[in-house]
Order: sequence, then structure tokens, then C-alpha cells
Amino acid sequence: MEFQAASCSRRCCWPLTGATATAVWNGRGERILLIPLAHQRVRRKMVYLTRKLEFSASHLYHNPVLSAEENKRIFGKCNNPHGHGHNYTLEVTVAGEPDPVTGMVLDLKELKEILEREITQRMDHRFLNYEVPELKGQIPTCENIARVIWNLLEPKINKGRLHKVRLYETPDLYADCYRNGAHGACARRSKSSLGGDIV
Ligand code: NI
Repeated sequence: MEFQAASCSRRCCWPLTGATATAVWNGRGERILLIPLAHQRVRRKMVYLTRKLEFSASHLYHNPVLSAEENKRIFGKCNNPHGHGHNYTLEVTVAGEPDPVTGMVLDLKELKEILEREITQRMDHRFLNYEVPELKGQIPTCENIARVIWNLLEPKINKGRLHKVRLYETPDLYADCYRNGAHGACARRSKSSLGGDIV
């Protein structure tokens, strides 16, 4: 069996992997712990945990720097001043290594509470243009809402780290935000009626 000097010496996780360690002395009289390489590989496995939630909200698309005609042309029916509603589905993915004691990347109750506090209470049954301060001055497209959600959740998740936010505006249209620099990267994907992905 191959061995490697270990950075992980936590005995609590060895029973889970069947790992056994061997201690040796190096030339400088220091004790070094050797753990089987197979165990090291198990320890490095990242897991992606996703929680889903739904909320309903209304919005309208209007950019005040454009003329009324331009707003109509670009945004079409979405420019209706009275707005329209969507049933949004949000998927939040956290990346991390399962805790050796609990088997969890993070406490699922805690994640549920964060989503309830930061997203549901803030956005559910709201007119996004007027009732969500974080969207003030932005057109509340699926992309912009996903980015705001990323920025709200990212600092609140302390176990593991936020990996992806996916927001469905309709079953065939969603926007993704991934970790990529401070604000994440956002992309819209839609299965259009013409077929293929629009990004
Ligand atoms: Ni809409």
C-alpha cells in the first residue's frame, strides 16, 4: 500500500475510510504520520449539495434612459407598467467536504433558515422593482435577480462555500451564477422555441 506524509491527522475520520496510519521518525528526529494515499483521496473529495425553494414575485422591465418607444421595442410585453408575475424556482449549491462526524457539508436547518430569511422573506409575493432594495436601479431580469441572490447568500454561508445559484424564471429559462471573483459570473440559458440554447 502506498503511503504519504499526512497533513490530515484527525483520527476521528479514519474509521469512516478504514484508514490506518503509520508513524515514522525522520532524519531530524521528528515524528511523521503516514496515512494511506487512498485515504488522502477520499478526504479531498468535494461534494456539491443543492437545496431548492420556490417563490412568487412580479416585475416589469423599464429603463428610464430609453424612450418609451425603445422600451416597448426592447422589452415588449415585459414593459407593461402594471408588471406581471412568475413562480421562480431557486437552486442553491454549496460545495464542501462532508464533516466526518455529521456526514454533512453544512447544517441543512441552518441553510433553510438562511434561504427563508434572505430570499423568501425578501422576495416572495413582492413587486421586485419597488420592494426589494437590492434591485433598485436594476432591471429585474432573471440574470440580475440571480446575481442579487448570490450577493445576499455568499457572505451568509460559512460552512462549505457557495458554488452556484440557479434561478428559473420559467421551466425553460434559467440564469446561473458561479463563483468567479467577488461577484460571481452570470449566464442566462433558455431552451428557445427555435431549439438550442441561448446564452
Ligand atoms: Ni417576466
